Amino acid sequence: MGEATKRRLERLPAAEYVRCDVSRAEEVRGLGERLKADGVLLTGIVHAAGVAGDGFLGSKRREVYDAVLAPKVDGSVALLELASEHPDPFVVLFSSITAVTGGFGQGDYSAANAFMDSLAAGARAEGARVLSVDWPTWTGAGMAVDHDVDADDAPFTPVSIQGGLAWLAYFLRHPVDGAVPADFNLPVLEREWDTLPFTVSAEVATAARNAAKEPSETGEAGGDAVLAGVSDPTPTQLRIASIYGSVLGLTEIDAYAGFQELGGNSLMTANLLSKVEQAYPETVDVADLFSYSTVVDLAAYIDEQRGADAGGTDDREGDRSLREALAEIGDTELISVFDDIEDSGERW
Ligand SMILES: NC(=O)c1ccc[n+]([C@@H]2O[C@H](COP(=O)([O-])OP(=O)(O)OC[C@H]3O[C@@H](n4cnc5c(N)ncnc54)[C@H](OP(=O)(O)O)[C@@H]3O)[C@@H](O)[C@H]2O)c1
Repeated sequence: MGEATKRRLERLPAAEYVRCDVSRAEEVRGLGERLKADGVLLTGIVHAAGVAGDGFLGSKRREVYDAVLAPKVDGSVALLELASEHPDPFVVLFSSITAVTGGFGQGDYSAANAFMDSLAAGARAEGARVLSVDWPTWTGAGMAVDHDVDADDAPFTPVSIQGGLAWLAYFLRHPVDGAVPADFNLPVLEREWDTLPFTVSAEVATAARNAAKEPSETGEAGGDAVLAGVSDPTPTQLRIASIYGSVLGLTEIDAYAGFQELGGNSLMTANLLSKVEQAYPETVDVADLFSYSTVVDLAAYIDEQRGADAGGTDDREGDRSLREALAEIGDTELISVFDDIEDSGERW
């Protein structure tokens, strides 16, 4: 851990950094013993340890395969055992979309993630609060950035750090099995139609065909909503209206109606954030979507932010380090992801 991270942790109330190889049951048990000795009750575990897979199974050495499986297979089992010794903590397993889609050179990684999905579903069936999220590619930091994964060339849209946190907060309150927090990347879906390892509904198939035929002028696939209430809309207003339309499934958007007023809920807000983030990277966060909830207000805010940034460097997300990305989020927001899960009224 770097000095900056260390200092930041020191400022977090009651935070402590402990190294533990989760694939070693005895190390996790040792951690459990320490928690007991310190009188600490676990309220939740986020299991985000993982090793990226790389290389075809036919030419892969056994130990390389095992190294990819270890944190996810052995680690998940060990952490669930640890959770079972505490009164009803939540456990979130960071799985991957590859558990559903597979991927070239991803045999070990896909298997490891599929194991976590099954483990979570089984544990939930027995009443434990365990959730496995099939994440798409994360932009901004992490193993996909480290391995130069082209996030725009996948059949699912990538998730930003902000968007991922919003989804995580949502899933903690509304747990589901087999959730993929992403939209279809319709043009890619259509292009790779013949080799897709999964089926889609007729509605999605039609949307993919249409997206391939008529790419939206706004760049927002499936979002051709008419903006009502503004006689001479700006490009940003049109693009935001298009995004609202695609998220809300509406063909007309009142420029002065708030997102919630138009029928948006918290799941849609997470979706909205991810799309706005894609269109205008690093411009808005979740709180902004509530503060500027109409098309007019949000577009004005985005223009203002982009104006303020104009002249800066073209700082692509992928070029930033994890520390920089997390520093931007802020501790309060990170902590709030896990706040009031117990009070949410939802039952796992
Ligand atoms: N990034 C993405 O696009 C993406 C997409 C889908 C799913 N995911 C999943 O999300 C999780 C986090 O991904 P990431 O991008 O943050 O990965 P990352 O940047 O590669 O970080 C993985 C972390 O896991 C730790 N780790 C590996 N084996 C461990 C073990 N046996 N015990 C304890 N810690 C261990 C590593 O610690 P050391 O550095 O000390 O080795 C590292 O800090 C992973 O499970 C990944 O599969 C990521």
